[in-house]
Amino acid sequence: MRTIDWVNGAVEIIDQTALPGEERILRLHTVGELIAAIQSLAVRGAPALGVAGAFGVALASRVHLDDPAALDLAVQRIETARPTAVNLARGARRAAALIPHGPEAVLAEARAVRDEEIAASAAMARLGADLVAELCGEERPRLLTHCNTGGLAAVTVGTALGVVGELHRRGRLAGVIASETRPLLQGARLTSWELTRWGVEHRVAVDSAGPFLMARGEVDAVILGADRICANGDVINKIGTYSHALGAHRAGIPFLVVAPESTVDRDTPSGTDVEIEDRGSAEVTAWSEAVNPAFDITPYDLVTAIVTDRRVIRVDRGEKP
Ligand code: MRU
Repeated sequence: MRTIDWVNGAVEIIDQTALPGEERILRLHTVGELIAAIQSLAVRGAPALGVAGAFGVALASRVHLDDPAALDLAVQRIETARPTAVNLARGARRAAALIPHGPEAVLAEARAVRDEEIAASAAMARLGADLVAELCGEERPRLLTHCNTGGLAAVTVGTALGVVGELHRRGRLAGVIASETRPLLQGARLTSWELTRWGVEHRVAVDSAGPFLMARGEVDAVILGADRICANGDVINKIGTYSHALGAHRAGIPFLVVAPESTVDRDTPSGTDVEIEDRGSAEVTAWSEAVNPAFDITPYDLVTAIVTDRRVIRVDRGEKP
């Protein structure tokens, strides 16, 4: 199942805001509808955002065939719909580079972005499962994951959750804890929904329980995704990732980041150079003002390894992206 695709002239997505209560397909016909879906998190997760960005430019190139200024503006609006995941602007720019060759060429490039993410998921699942087996030994590991990194976030299999699925298929998984991921509950709603569909036994924990569960010896490794990986190895991912990295460091267990090469951003030196999306207070509480950063920065010295679709970067041995 593809959670985002181009179907008969429109972008089709599973509406992630409706899950797990309702499995609703949204057809997005315009750039405005696509941007609204990105900003409401109906489509979300770095690789899926890259595909959404590319398909968004395919939509725009059809509508603004004879109006280059309007097309430029549409591409710019898509690129900047959310600031943190590098994939969104990258996917949009890749498709936009084909504009001089016409809308069919743009669509073909957007489909290539989609297909590359599907292939990357399969490669990461294998590389990541091998690395977990290497680091955790013969025991079947108990893993903790954060946010949602499954097919919902990456078209089909996913990044970190793809590794979890692969370990499950190999019979090499003892259990999974999904941290709920306040405030929008990507872990409790989406990861739990995907793991249930895959038949993977799991439990949900409140975010703040993660480091304690690690300290109590109930987690063998942390495995999660990224929205951007900086040149020095800093990892930008869902708020709460840094706390899990500190917990893993303290507990002496591996902290593994699984993300495609399309998420590696060598042009950004370190995490402090990245705009962290602030999603405002309404998502957090109706009772008082709130500060609501959507992502955080995990310094590279807390990362054991980064698994991409082509490489295992042993950050703990001084390797850089
Ligand atoms: O705000 P979201 O839900 O788009 O944040 C997503 C994440 O932080 C994911 O962990 C990341 O994009 C990796 S997705 C494979």
